[in-house]
This record gives sequence, C-alpha cells and structure tokens, in this order.
Amino acid sequence: MRVAVLKESFPGERRVALVPSVLPSLAKRGLSVELESGAGHEAGFTDESYSLAGATIGHGRAQVARRAEILLALRPPLRGGRELELELFREGQLFVCQLDALSSPELAERLASTGVESYALELMPRITRAQSMDVLSSQSNLAGYRAVLLAAEALPRVLPMMMTAAGTLPAARVLVLGAGVAGLQAIATAKRLGAVVEAYDVRPEVREQVQSVGGRFVTLEGAEEAQGDSASRGGYAKAQSDEALARQREALAQHVRAADVVIAAALVPGTRAPLILTKQMMRGMRPGSVIVDLAAEQGGNCELTHPGEAYTTPEGVQVLGPVNLPSSLAHHASQLYAKNITAFLLHLLGTAGGSAELSAQRDDDPIARETRVTRGGALVNPRVLAALETARHAHRMGRAEELSEAGAHH
Ligand code: NAI
Repeated sequence: MRVAVLKESFPGERRVALVPSVLPSLAKRGLSVELESGAGHEAGFTDESYSLAGATIGHGRAQVARRAEILLALRPPLRGGRELELELFREGQLFVCQLDALSSPELAERLASTGVESYALELMPRITRAQSMDVLSSQSNLAGYRAVLLAAEALPRVLPMMMTAAGTLPAARVLVLGAGVAGLQAIATAKRLGAVVEAYDVRPEVREQVQSVGGRFVTLEGAEEAQGDSASRGGYAKAQSDEALARQREALAQHVRAADVVIAAALVPGTRAPLILTKQMMRGMRPGSVIVDLAAEQGGNCELTHPGEAYTTPEGVQVLGPVNLPSSLAHHASQLYAKNITAFLLHLLGTAGGSAELSAQRDDDPIARETRVTRGGALVNPRVLAALETARHAHRMGRAEELSEAGAHH
C-alpha cells in the first residue's frame, strides 16, 4: 500500500507528518511512502534524506495524494487556511491527522462527503496502550518547554539567582497553572533555568509529579471543594462549576501576585479553557511580569489573552498568547509526531488483521473506535456528531437573535 505525505498548507505550519527515521518500520509492513517534494524542508528534513530512507519524491500535490491508499498529515489540508482541498481525497482512502474535529465539526462533515475513512489523532483515548500514539502529549511537552523560554526572553529579570560582585539577584518566581503534560514540562524547564517554581492543578493526584520535577504543589485554602470535586476522568480533569472556579481564583490571587512568570496550561478537553486569571487578579502583579497563556486557542486561561499576540496591560503585565508553539520546534516536534502517527497506523493495520480491508476493523478496539471520525460518506463519531449538533444549535440561535434584532429596528 502507498502512503502519501504532503507539505502542510496551514499558514505558519512548519512540521511534517513523517520523518525519514520512521520509514523502515512502515516498509517492513509493506507500506511505501511518497512524499510531496519539499514537505520536510521547514522541519529540517531534505528530500534526499527521505529518498535515502526509501521514499519516493513526488511532484504535484493532488497526484501524490490521489495515488495513495493512505494519506498522513498534521492538519487537514486547507486552502488559504479555510477551504478543504477536496481534490486531494478519494473514496475509501484512509486519512489520519489532527482533525480538531470537536472544535471544527463542520470541517469533519465536509471531509465525510469525500468518502474517506478519517481518524483524528487528538481523540486518542489516554490509555496506557495508546501512549506511543498520543500526539497531544508529545506536542504539549514541547510547548511547555518553549513557553518558559518565551517567558524568560520577555521578562526583564533573570531566572536563576545570581551572586555577582555588583550584588545578588534573586531567583524569579514561576507559577504554573495546570500540571498536565505541558505544565509539567514547563515546571521542569523553569526549574532547570534556576527559577523558584510552584504549580497548581485541580487534580490533587498530580502533587507527586509536580514535586518530582522540582516544583512546589500549591494547596488552596478555601478551595478544597474545587479540588475535591474534580476527580479526574481518563487522565483528564472534569469541568468545574462557576462557583468552584470563583473560589479557586480567590485563593490563587496571592500566588499570582507573587509570581514574575505565570505559565497557564489548564485545560479540560472538549470544553472552553477554564478562566483562571482575571484582570483583577493581575492588578497586583509587578510591572514587567509575564503571563504565557498556552490555552489561547481554547479561549484562554487569562481574561486578557489575545491568541497569537502579545498584549501589555496598563500596569505593565505582559500577556503572551502563543499559538502553535510545537511548529517553532518543527524538527523535534515532527520527529515525535511521526513516531506517534506511525504507531497508530501500524496499530490500525494490525486490528484490520493485516489486510487491506481497513474499514472492516473490529469495533471493539477503543483506539480505532474513538478516533474514527468519518466512514462510508458519513460522520460516525458520536462526540463529533454531538459537537456538530451544538454548533448548529448555536448558529440557529445566533440567526434567530439577528432576525429579531433586525425586526426590532424596523
Ligand atoms: P493536559 O490535559 O495534559 O493538562 C491540563 C491540566 O489542566 C490537567 O492536569 C488538568 O487537571 C488541569 N486543569 C483543568 N482545569 C484546571 C483549573 N481550573 N485549574 C488548574 N488546573 C486545571 O493538557 P496539556 O496537553 O498539558 O495542554 C495544556 C494546554 O496547552 C492546553 O490548553 C493545550 O491546548 C495547550 N497547548 C498549547 C500549545 C500552543 O502552541 N499554544 C501547544 C500544545 C498545547
């Protein structure tokens, strides 16, 4: 079977879905790879390095894609970042990428119309067996690292304590909110750079992990309930009530004011990011201090985050809302992603009994079942279908409001 890898078309995306080092494991399973020329260039992988690893290099995006039975990517191919490149797909083709299907269910629906069998890697269940396929973890880890470097660069202070002939400079204080994959790597990185690090998470069970990478776990007085009712589910936190979030904010305020850097990495999958940092909480922060809000694309953990931009408050607090940080570490991000997607593909082919009859996969395999989004021309994923229904409902409500407003004006 032939696997195609195209150059990513999303604006600013530098990663590539496969790297040369994973090609032998695909070849062993009878899969040949055709790469669109230049696809790995921005991640530091030349066409030649793919050729040497056994790939063929193709020209003409649509031809490369349509010749293949399997299409692997980082993101859905969107012309100008908007329109799905429909001409790349053909019926029955297998398509694997990060589809972002819960936040863009309409896109998944359009993909269904092409007849491809698509799998969304971000829907991977967080179970031990799927760890090697978990792209959210592999990419978030790098984002956590990069977030600290961004903060260090913007901060007008040093991170480590420095004893110099001209006096001693104290270590910076870093507060990490949300000690998941990105948060834990942020703690470890800040610690390595010499900062004093503390971290807070609604899941008390991560305390030991925080401590093991050198952070102090913050326990919030008066917010016990916020912690208590947050028993995790499948490695993720549950969404909190507004009341619990308000109590949490109140108890966190003094830690925020004491921090030079806040790395916000709190998330409950499939929901808007919890709003933890309000304008009011930031008011007592020192001028020049930095907030890096990793959840910018999910609505932000901070009230003043502008996705993709840096904003400075009138009091001089810098709020950075970086998007797609893994792309800025394209080489290593691609290397990890390629490992993930290869493990997933080989797993899929395995559950299909090694035959080409991919769509006959056993439905009792949770990895295939939970990540499958489209098949046979239809959207087949219950979570994505529910997201589509919610989006349609919101659209209808918006339309109704617009119409009634228009009516009121007449
Ligand atoms: P994760 O699910 O591993 O960790 C999120 C953590 O937040 C969990 O430990 C959870 O218990 C905690 N949390 C949930 N609600 C909370 C609250 N109210 N207060 C404190 N903690 C709370 O997620 P991961 O992979 O670490 O990602 C974290 C964030 O970073 C996400 O928003 C993700 O989208 C974002 N991210 C951003 C990137 C970028 O380039 N900007 C790249 C990669 C990830």
